[in-house]
Amino acid sequence: MNPIPRISWLSAALLATATAVAADKPVLKDVYKGKFEVGVAINRSVTMGAAGMRRSQEQVNSDIALVKEQFNQVVAENEMKWESIHPRAGADGFNFGPADALVAFGQSNRMSIAGHTLVWHSQTPTWVFAGTNPPPASATNAPVPPPAPAVATNSTGTNGPGARRPGFGPGFGGGFGRYNGPRASREELLERMRDHIHTVAGRYKGKVKVWDVVNEALSDSGTTNVLRSSLWSEIIGPDFIAKAFQYAHEADPAAILRYNDYGLENPMKRQKLITMVRQLQAQKVPIHAIGSQAHINVSTTFEIMDQTLAEIATLGLPIHITELDINTAQGGQRATGADVAANAATTQGGQVSDADKKLADAYEAVFRAFVKHDKSIDIVTFWGVNDAVSWRAQGKPLVFDGDNKPKPAFAAVIRAATGGQLK
Ligand code: G3I
Repeated sequence: MNPIPRISWLSAALLATATAVAADKPVLKDVYKGKFEVGVAINRSVTMGAAGMRRSQEQVNSDIALVKEQFNQVVAENEMKWESIHPRAGADGFNFGPADALVAFGQSNRMSIAGHTLVWHSQTPTWVFAGTNPPPASATNAPVPPPAPAVATNSTGTNGPGARRPGFGPGFGGGFGRYNGPRASREELLERMRDHIHTVAGRYKGKVKVWDVVNEALSDSGTTNVLRSSLWSEIIGPDFIAKAFQYAHEADPAAILRYNDYGLENPMKRQKLITMVRQLQAQKVPIHAIGSQAHINVSTTFEIMDQTLAEIATLGLPIHITELDINTAQGGQRATGADVAANAATTQGGQVSDADKKLADAYEAVFRAFVKHDKSIDIVTFWGVNDAVSWRAQGKPLVFDGDNKPKPAFAAVIRAATGGQLK
């Protein structure tokens, strides 16, 4: 059992000048050293040090101090998504500023950096899919699907199929209200994908250690459809996934290439992951890690996470927990998803009773499972610095509150590392 690392008087004195960190506060990246990196998703207010709509300058300074203090891995919550980094067609259609700032922030703070995400059905501009080929009648005539009905809590107590709408809002290539005009050909779309991946992954070659190459390609519905239907799969075909990994490998042969998805705590979705990845492996596709987002809720138990990790580990690839947060909102306990379009429903109704304790118990349970499987897990990344900046702010899903004060869940995560009690 490891003692809880403490900040030395020297580092405490140095830190005291820059941050308001308590000298005896344990440090996540230290207690998990030797097991896995502990990371956090950050946004441009942190990487650029600028106040925004949600955070004052003072709060941003505090967020930055907390990130530097607690974490040794970072990922951009939004700045490397296609709509952000490559909003327009053509060689001058890229917008690298915010992504460059993320990479500079990570490098200057000696953090390892993940890139999120190269190919996704959501947050991809319409121009990517546009062309001269008439869309199939099913696309133009299809009514916009209504929100999927809520489903009762599944036995996983986690992200289950049901609440997710098939895409994201107007103007994007994703499913809900998605682009249904004339389409690019397979060859045109492959070329756009290749150009995007080569340019973005090539720019950060040797700096971004791991890429989410394909994000959320698995279907949530039924047992027979392994892949979700998206403009990527419809125009290119199911081999868009293999092609994306191939292009990313060409762009940076040393990068760790990750497939990333949510809801893998659900046995049916997990089976789809295993089926898909085994096929990719049989085709010698360069896939190097599995990203399990883990947007879960407070009913997630040790047993659920233990089983999830044990089964994913059978693929023989490292597991990265890529977007961890634990929803305490009542609306998120019955049916949850990882889509912003469905987020309002999953964060409504106020918090569950005794939320801080339930959150702490859930964090302790899943981190004890991470520790049990630490030979398989290389990275655990929290999806946000604190509750105030979380995409699920009303679900208060993180271990720091909006003032960056550690919640009981923080002590629980520390306890899971040490196996002991936090004083
Ligand atoms: O930056 C613009 C700003 O200029 C504009 O004024 C404002 C008005 O709405 O929008 C801002 O963009 C928002 C962006 O977050 C940055 O805050 C988008 O509207 C908003 O949709 C976007 O949401 C992100 C969402 O992905 C969609 O990209 C969330 O922050 C982010 O946490 C979430 O993350 C996803 C992962 O990438 C994949 N897995 C699921 C996870 C949760 O949905």
